[in-house]
Amino acid sequence: MTISGYKPSTLILWGVLALPALGMIGPLLGDDPKAFRALLHPTGEFAARFMIIGMMASGLMLLFRGRHWPRWLLHHRRDIEVAAFLYALLHLAVYLIDRGTMERVMEQLAQVRIWTGWLAFLIFVPLAVTSNDAAQRWLRAGWKTMQRLAYPAAVLVLVHWAAMKDWGGWPPALIHFGPLLALWAYRLWYWYLRPRAPAVA
Ligand code: HEM
Repeated sequence: MTISGYKPSTLILWGVLALPALGMIGPLLGDDPKAFRALLHPTGEFAARFMIIGMMASGLMLLFRGRHWPRWLLHHRRDIEVAAFLYALLHLAVYLIDRGTMERVMEQLAQVRIWTGWLAFLIFVPLAVTSNDAAQRWLRAGWKTMQRLAYPAAVLVLVHWAAMKDWGGWPPALIHFGPLLALWAYRLWYWYLRPRAPAVA
């Protein structure tokens, strides 16, 4: 344990998770008037990337049973998912500031590429707020059920991304989500479809 009880590996991880945000400051210092709006891309992408990496932990644990590194990822999953939420918060702040008025925000709400983002974000709020040991103890079995909401939220983010540029967002969205979707398929196969040895009488 070091600074305020955090392990060095956690502090290094947070340094790495903060790097993309630091990279976003540079373009803002120039005189490009579109630089602020352009932040929608990296903030959205890193929110999605960290969400995907965090959600891959359980599947990787199952696929690489007995290996040490998936356990490291599982152990730090909460940090990675909190970082994903903070990038999503930044993404939303950029969007709201860029739109400027509530009227202009409401104008776009019916578009699939927008409401999917809102809905995903609304699901992430309670998940982020309860991503601590105290909430886990307080909610008991309900905590796990609630965390399962992350699955529909991830699907909404996939659709949100794919729907960009008149549904031209499919290729980058699928490239990013491909590994997570493959691990979900593996977990389903492993738990429900895998041939098992008959029980010995
Ligand atoms: C809170 C409600 C949200 C709103 C209003 C919103 C809005 C937007 C908008 C307007 C864009 C288009 C940027 C452009 O092409 O000019 C965008 C892109 C994107 N958003 Fe969101 N978003 C929201 C939530 C989220 C969440 C929760 C995530 C992920 C966890 C996310 C991930 C993305 C990604 C990956 C892109 C594509 C970035 C790219 O073009 O490379 N968004 N969002």
